[in-house]
Amino acid sequence: MTSDKAKESGMDSETMIKACREHTLYAWAQQNTVKPLPIARTDGVYMYTPEGDRILDFNSQLMCVNVGHNHPKVIAAIKAQLDAGLTYVYPGTATEPRARLGAKLAAICPGDINKFFFTLGGAEAVENAVRIARLYTGRQKILSAYRSYHGGTNLAMQATGEPRRWANEPGAPGFVHVVGMYPYSYSYGDDDAAIIENHLTYLEEVITGEGPQTIAAMIIESVIGTNGILPPPKGYLKALKALLDRHGILLICDEVMAGFGRTGKMLAFEHGDIVPDLVAMAKGLTSSYVPLGAVGIRQPIADYFEEHTYWGGLTYNSHALGCAAALAVLDVMEEEKLVERAAALEPVVLAEMAKLAEKHRSIRCYRSIGLFGAIEIRKNSAGEPIAPFNGGHPAMAKLAAFFRENGLFTFVRWHYFMVNPPLTITEEQLREGFAIIDRGLEITDAAFEG
Ligand SMILES: Cc1ncc(COP(=O)(O)O)c(C=O)c1O
Repeated sequence: MTSDKAKESGMDSETMIKACREHTLYAWAQQNTVKPLPIARTDGVYMYTPEGDRILDFNSQLMCVNVGHNHPKVIAAIKAQLDAGLTYVYPGTATEPRARLGAKLAAICPGDINKFFFTLGGAEAVENAVRIARLYTGRQKILSAYRSYHGGTNLAMQATGEPRRWANEPGAPGFVHVVGMYPYSYSYGDDDAAIIENHLTYLEEVITGEGPQTIAAMIIESVIGTNGILPPPKGYLKALKALLDRHGILLICDEVMAGFGRTGKMLAFEHGDIVPDLVAMAKGLTSSYVPLGAVGIRQPIADYFEEHTYWGGLTYNSHALGCAAALAVLDVMEEEKLVERAAALEPVVLAEMAKLAEKHRSIRCYRSIGLFGAIEIRKNSAGEPIAPFNGGHPAMAKLAAFFRENGLFTFVRWHYFMVNPPLTITEEQLREGFAIIDRGLEITDAAFEG
């Protein structure tokens, strides 16, 4: 992605990168390996460097810009909120954006999820969902799964079940990790029914061992995100909810990444036909134009706090600008039928992935639920992943560099890479992205050991 084109305006790429590297700390990274992508502006499914080079966004940034970049209606709503003279007031106030967003989310969420606590982002939503579960049940322990990510704050990090937790230990107490629906290197069974039954038998054993009366909640990603885009087998969510209900354990669905249309349903747990007790949301809620997260709360739990203090708060709770942005995003999602659009584009993505799998021997497997997809790369015909757990492979590094040099933005991690474009993407733009992937996969094919 080099260019000798004149910069469009403001800082050039080199100056921007140098200053950002010198004075700002990059996340999850050894700083001397960071090569930030210089971005001057964005539009629809594209980002532009200061020199005007165009990059196709095949990951909606951190799987969050669901309505696409720079949507005029969302931008106008944010400007209108600023012009209305109400940007920030303290969280003990009542404001129109807060009133309207609470009511809107209550209408959108199924069942009796009728009350919302607004945060700044996903990790804070997870923190507060856990706090609510503990206060409501009077129990302390939280079950969470390996192969999960729940956020970078102390408690959310401890809920997390993947390597980013390791360096952050010891973290918040009270978490018990279980092997989730998708163990990394073995399977609970050959078909969905066996997988669900065996997994839940194991889970109940853990619950018995821990003492059900000590467990407040289990937190799961409704569809596992960063750790590979793994939707649960059909019937799992219902069976899990029934098991937890039997023990008085609440279910917290983390919809931070999978929510707001990404999977072809407004909320991903709707695929499983359940109503969780608590829901953590962020990212797609405002399409990340402005920071905002939320915890959705079922009526009986909300009712409890009529008579009991909610021992939680944030300076930016129910921020007017965030609430206004979320309302505009939800309107755009409805007007442009983006949830339906994600569902309709799923077969298009799967067909493109199938074509690639026909042609490229290094593809191990692929999947997409709505516009939430991943392609895994294998090392050999035995199906071994090209990179080990939490590791890399030179061919994957080259593939990532190829995507970048050819104007495709997506995440390459371990032995897989993501296909999570904005829900506004056209079929033609999808094919534009898959054409770049097609060429890139020659790199991993060359590394295939046979
Ligand atoms: C499933 C899930 N939960 C929580 C979070 C944390 O959200 P945030 O980074 O907004 O704190 C993320 C972020 O990627 C996520 O994917």
